[in-house]
Amino acid sequence: MKVHDILIVGAGLAGMRAALAAPSHLDVALLSKVHPVRSHSVAAQGGINAALGENDSWEAHAFDTTKGGLYLGDQDAIEAMCREAPGDILDLERMGVIFSRDEQGRIAQRPFGGAGFPRTCYAADRTGHAILHAMYEQLLKRQAFVYEEWYVTSLIVEEGVCRGVVAWDLLKGGLHAIGAKAVILATGGSGRVFLTSTNAVINTGDGMALAYRAGAPLEDMEFVQFHPTTLKDTGILITEGARGEGGYLLNTLGDRFMKAYAPEQMELATRSTVSLAIGQEITEGRGVDGCVLLDLRHLGRARILERLPQIRELAIEFAGVDPIESPIPVRPGAHYQMGGVRTTQWGETEMPGLYAAGECACVSVHGANRLGGNSLLETIVFGRRAGGRAADYLREVAPRAISDAALRSDEARVKRLLANKGTERAWQIRDELGKTMAFNLGLFRTQKSMTEAFEKVRELSERAPHVFVQDRGKVFNTDLIQALELQCLLEVAETIVAGALAREESRGSHYRSEFPRRDDANWLKHTLAYRTPVGPSLRYAPVTITRFPPK
Ligand code: FUM
Repeated sequence: MKVHDILIVGAGLAGMRAALAAPSHLDVALLSKVHPVRSHSVAAQGGINAALGENDSWEAHAFDTTKGGLYLGDQDAIEAMCREAPGDILDLERMGVIFSRDEQGRIAQRPFGGAGFPRTCYAADRTGHAILHAMYEQLLKRQAFVYEEWYVTSLIVEEGVCRGVVAWDLLKGGLHAIGAKAVILATGGSGRVFLTSTNAVINTGDGMALAYRAGAPLEDMEFVQFHPTTLKDTGILITEGARGEGGYLLNTLGDRFMKAYAPEQMELATRSTVSLAIGQEITEGRGVDGCVLLDLRHLGRARILERLPQIRELAIEFAGVDPIESPIPVRPGAHYQMGGVRTTQWGETEMPGLYAAGECACVSVHGANRLGGNSLLETIVFGRRAGGRAADYLREVAPRAISDAALRSDEARVKRLLANKGTERAWQIRDELGKTMAFNLGLFRTQKSMTEAFEKVRELSERAPHVFVQDRGKVFNTDLIQALELQCLLEVAETIVAGALAREESRGSHYRSEFPRRDDANWLKHTLAYRTPVGPSLRYAPVTITRFPPK
């Protein structure tokens, strides 16, 4: 069996940054179910935050992040992220990232929601694309080995220590055990738990489910961010950068309705505030065909073409609207999982040998509501930190033979799936799950809606192992992969619903109609979900507060 020093699962921004942070004499490999530059990080649009401005400071960035997250983020981790952000941006620039420039030639920064200063660095509206490709070039230079189009089915855990993974080779078919002294999960989010989402179809919560099954807790999973502006019908992201550049939100009366909800910040209030406001406008009949309108016309053709070219293309292609001439129909949509695998600010999970970084992890820096532009930053800062810390850990690991028990167990699981005789297909259950979550755990949650969802997810979880996999072949069997991904989606969904049902308050993205207020006395604490045979067992952990007392 091949044994790497470090194996990174996921080759988006967090994974690549982790790989580049490890010393070059180490044997570092990445594994991804897609080619690295097809990772979902490539779709990030609006930008990456760092206090670069003369009148800005990392402390102000940390305050905005803490306040925006409704004080649920751990402030020691937030401080680390904001303090290190400027250095990381300069490192990215040295790697070749083509940031947009201001008139003085400095890295340009635009205002984003909840930020007291324009601190979002960007590359037009294709920031993720620009960073991912520059990072990939660095990865090629380093000659890191990539298992391209491989899918991890389990972590190998022996005596409580993570020692590698079992993975399916999509191109040739077949399961293999791959040993590693340290494994870093960097698999991104789980947005596809919801029917429509800004996330790519590949965002099925695989890393979260792998860690959860192996015994590591998932933290604060009830906090799922709904981005205020996703395109009508498809749910494609329309960047916050559009409002950062000056775009307005209008209701059917032509009113800039944000003046009633956040008169000072208007369209640049935090995401949960803007999303709830849009939801209320639509519910109260002031929407336009289930949406509100994002008006960019006053920005003018030249600015739209320079700063928001991709948004224009997407609006034309997918909604038949040219924003130079007409407003874009938008509505809130599932965008980001604030929760994830619980880690320290060095990416360590509760399991020796297992690390996590990026959206699949919960460090926690976003609390109950992430600020736009902090997600890319998190991938870079904590990917780098996890890569470095995993490299340090190697000094403690003694060489040891790895048994083939996990491989045999997954072979049996795949064999059972391929032998299923029923008629129900994975996509049917995935669709039912998506509708259930969108309808019952969207912007507004109630005891009744969540209880219904809990029962439905249970029922779907019982049906999922019996789905019919029509393709019995080995080569590029996406039918089989979808059946495996479905099981991850269901595990993740169950933790979202359980955490949300238990949390009897409203905070950030978690809005409960029966408990409309934030309740610091009882709920200023992290939810931890541990897997048991009868579903998630919830425990709670304190929030780290350093310099910003909750207000
Ligand atoms: O709106 C956006 O461009 C998204 C940015 C983010 O989620 O950080």
